[in-house]
Amino acid sequence: MIKATSLAIAALACLPSLQAALAAGPAETDRRVRLLAATCITCHGPGGQSLGAVPSLAGQDKTYLQTAMHEQKKGERDTTVMRKYMKGFTDDEIAKLADYFSNLK
Ligand code: HEC
Repeated sequence: MIKATSLAIAALACLPSLQAALAAGPAETDRRVRLLAATCITCHGPGGQSLGAVPSLAGQDKTYLQTAMHEQKKGERDTTVMRKYMKGFTDDEIAKLADYFSNLK
């Protein structure tokens, strides 16, 4: 019984740091990026591998993807839809999406 109680106390003591980790840690960041990336695959194909005319994103160079998205956002790149789409993304989200898709096979 003593053991169980001290275990429970130890678990409670860990809680604040666990919550902090969930709020801002890598796991949460990943989840958010994956949610954003899920909106891209409608056009760019499952896993970022295009099935049609839209360019594939998976495995592309990170800097290339990031530059392309910034140019789309600023209207410096010829696009049909991406310009309107990228306007809603922050620079940080663009960087994370570029990182995410460049790491897909
Ligand atoms: C409604 C369809 C659609 C959605 C959703 C979409 N894209 Fe695109 N994307 C395109 C099309 C079409 C192009 C080709 C350029 C153009 O016509 O706008 C493109 C081009 C790109 C390019 C340039 C690729 C290259 O090789 O030139 C990048 C990078 C890109 N998209 C990233 C994304 C990301 C990241 C998301 C999700 C946050 C996303 N796109 C969501 C349709 C879409």
